[in-house]
Amino acid sequence: MKYNIAVLDGDGIGPEICAGAIKVLEKVAQKYGHEFAFSHYPIGGCAIDTFGDPLPQETIDGCLASDSVLLGAVGGYKWDNLPVDIRPEKGLLRIRKAMELYSNIRPAKLWKSLAKASPLKYELVKDGVEIIIVRELTGGIYFGERGSGTGDMGDFAWDTEKYSVKEIERITRIACELAVKRGKKLVSVDKANVLESSRLWRKTVHEYCAKNYPQIEVQDVLVDNMAMQIVKNPSQFDVVVTSNIFGDILSDEAAQVTGSIGMLASSSLGDTKRGLYEPIHGSAPDIAGRDIANPIATILAAAMMLRDSFDLVKEYAAIEIAIQKVLDEGYRTADIMEDGKTQVGCRKMAELIAEHI
Ligand code: IPM
Ligand code: MN
Repeated sequence: MKYNIAVLDGDGIGPEICAGAIKVLEKVAQKYGHEFAFSHYPIGGCAIDTFGDPLPQETIDGCLASDSVLLGAVGGYKWDNLPVDIRPEKGLLRIRKAMELYSNIRPAKLWKSLAKASPLKYELVKDGVEIIIVRELTGGIYFGERGSGTGDMGDFAWDTEKYSVKEIERITRIACELAVKRGKKLVSVDKANVLESSRLWRKTVHEYCAKNYPQIEVQDVLVDNMAMQIVKNPSQFDVVVTSNIFGDILSDEAAQVTGSIGMLASSSLGDTKRGLYEPIHGSAPDIAGRDIANPIATILAAAMMLRDSFDLVKEYAAIEIAIQKVLDEGYRTADIMEDGKTQVGCRKMAELIAEHI
């Protein structure tokens, strides 16, 4: 089969880590008889520099014409002081919206061989950690009405958190589909003791699950308590569904618990098979171009694309196993380096993984 993949390299380490993922995908293609055609499009800071726009129309068109999209990372110091509408991050928010990718799945998994990298005490993580955060991605406060003005207290600014039943139901469905394949338990995170939008969230999640997935046990956790529980007892969680802003914050926290943010990927999907796959870490401008970044998160993102957009389950597993083998052989990039292991650069890490496919 032939698949057209749009690659949005982005800024900072984006191009290096995408190159690593492409190397691995090429090996998969050769080994399993597929054809992957890669088309690169600009996004983020580099797109601002060339087109004055973090998401040029050609990028939107290219993504919509592709079978799926692989993204590196966007942003960097250089663009930090631009007005909010032409900042690199806006490119990311807009491509999610343009592709109608309302669900963002962020698995935070503690790799056995990297358990020591967790900043938590060993007793807290010894049973393994795999928290799958399902974050609503195209609604809530990141897309709500906003504005600013001047009043009695001087200048003010405001943003709004707004959710409709339909938006809550469709993200709940995605989370339930994952939960039925796993532990049949779903944690829904909100702030229903304060927010009206959270009360609707909670009511909708319960009604939707009771009607469509009665086998799933749903538990509500308030977001402040959730932030605490993630560091207190991370092994208690499996699938977690939450709003855009809470998911943004909690997924970084959960990622940090695994100690290896350079190893975590995410997928964003809507109602079609065309998704957007990216590492969950950022563009790391401080180490860009030095061949020291960890390409594994992006390689895993590419693997998720094979599984979730193209139904290539064997190929997904082959990549995961190859990564595990390379780690077992003691190879590490700088971010996950430990005594007695062999440090390699970004390019070499990708080559090693490709060789193990
Ligand atoms: C993320 C990032 C983005 C987000 C930013 C860059 C807009 O933090 O993917 O989590 O908040 O969604
Ligand atoms: Mn974030």
